[in-house]
Amino acid sequence: MKEILEELERRRAQAHLGGGQKRIDAQHKKGKLTARERIELLLDDGTFEEWDMFVEHRCTDFGMAGQKIPGDGVVTGYGMINGRLVFVFSQDFTVFGGALSEAHAEKICKVMDQAMKVGAPVIGLNDSGGARIQEGVASLGGYAEVFQRNVMASGVIPQISLIMGPCAGGAVYSPAMTDFIFMVKDSSYMFVTGPEVVKTVTHEDVTAEELGGASTHTTKSGVADLAFDNDVEALMMLRRLFNYLPLSNREKPPVRLGNDGRGDPAERAELSLDTLVPDNPNKPYDMKELILKVVDDGDFFELQPDYAKNIVIGFARMEGQSVGIVANQPLVLAGCLDIKSSIKAARFVRFCDAFNIPVITFVDVPGFMPGTSQEYGGIIKHGAKLLYAYAECTVPKVTVITRKAYGGAYDVMASKHLRGDVNLAWPRAEIAVMGAKGAVEIIFREDKNDPDKLAAREAEYKARFANPFVAGARGYIDDVILPSETRKRICRSLVMLREKKLENPWRKHGNIPL
Ligand code: HXC
Repeated sequence: MKEILEELERRRAQAHLGGGQKRIDAQHKKGKLTARERIELLLDDGTFEEWDMFVEHRCTDFGMAGQKIPGDGVVTGYGMINGRLVFVFSQDFTVFGGALSEAHAEKICKVMDQAMKVGAPVIGLNDSGGARIQEGVASLGGYAEVFQRNVMASGVIPQISLIMGPCAGGAVYSPAMTDFIFMVKDSSYMFVTGPEVVKTVTHEDVTAEELGGASTHTTKSGVADLAFDNDVEALMMLRRLFNYLPLSNREKPPVRLGNDGRGDPAERAELSLDTLVPDNPNKPYDMKELILKVVDDGDFFELQPDYAKNIVIGFARMEGQSVGIVANQPLVLAGCLDIKSSIKAARFVRFCDAFNIPVITFVDVPGFMPGTSQEYGGIIKHGAKLLYAYAECTVPKVTVITRKAYGGAYDVMASKHLRGDVNLAWPRAEIAVMGAKGAVEIIFREDKNDPDKLAAREAEYKARFANPFVAGARGYIDDVILPSETRKRICRSLVMLREKKLENPWRKHGNIPL
């Protein structure tokens, strides 16, 4: 027995050493933690149960038979985050650059399969040079097995990716199919092909940072949701995100009250909101101020804050219950919907819908962005994504129109017609086909050379339409409320909607305009 225990210890120690002390030191020197250190920080103390520590690759080409490292470059298992179950895999860059072999893929698939069986999220800590080159097609097959599981798990269990090193090739496609991607600034990269290949094929000179660094993916491409200064911060923020999510689509969204256990009062009035919207309808204001003042404890977990800033998305809580927030941002492009903002919000709404998280929508939108660049880029198809997402969404939907709700964008932003459950408007709401000036220029074209007449027509249009009562008269708006009572009205709506049941007709799947 003693010998066996010693042998076990020896094998464990060998696995813990991964690619060796020299490579661990190199990893630390780059400011990166090791695969195991990351898991320790991510999970509650002492909760990690490791699987497959002794798995080895089966490759014999290129001298690989003599280079077997127990665990084969990925640490897998399960544990707890704030007492809630999660499965995790963490790639070990010290072992063949975290590259994915057939055996490495099998380990990842095993935790994904188990997570699906028990209904718990999977978190991937990615630090990988992609397909393990020595294994050829076996490695490609391994990736495809992971991809297939990513797709089967989509909408069933939350999947979250942290990119914590240079991730190339297959190593970016699996994260791309997960629900959220976090990156670490200056040490993580995502690209399909690296700068050298880019140079050869397109003759572009580009650094790894420019091509696929955290800043690129959180500001230009929208591939990643958030970027953090270092591994520790990224892992801590991942724990925070996790708290908002149900473990699977079989669960209701979690309820977490504030530190005192009592939570922010539902009836809390916020008088400053009564003066948030400026008198001049063309003057912007910060929609985030409204969000922070309405949600529990001013705690808003914003996603993609630096991408398509004309729409704001993120998680918050109302009376402790997780909610998804979608809000037009008048500070940027006057809150117009364009290609990027439509895609950003559509994907978020679909996540919330898949995981039973109510969606609260704050509307101040002058319409879809006009112009050739938008039309050539396919705003029709991409704008329709958001329309589609809201229309198919069956979770509780509460909508508050703070100011403008014009044209198609009025329809799109969780309107009554798209099965909005509770649609409220602030007193200054303007719900119309378009703004007064544009409207009279079209319908009273014959007066275009008579500024006085045009001004009178504009005033008439404003008096008729620049208010919430025309929509209210048709029941498209359930009530016109004081801004200061927004929190109370949303909280009451959510309580009323707690047992909401709504199902879409059976189908294999819809055909969202991709
Ligand atoms: C095997 C790999 C590897 C790989 C890195 N290594 N990538 N081994 N297969 N794909 C090994 C290196 O040989 C090295 O071993 C160690 O990992 C660290 O690599 P370095 O190059 O020294 O590190 P660094 O300078 O930080 O560069 C990291 C890197 C670079 C950017 C990831 O290694 C790189 O470009 N690798 C290749 C990326 C790639 O083209 N992958 C295949 C993509 S195709 P030693 O022993 O020296 O420590 C793909 C197909 C799937 O993934 C497609 C599905 C859709």
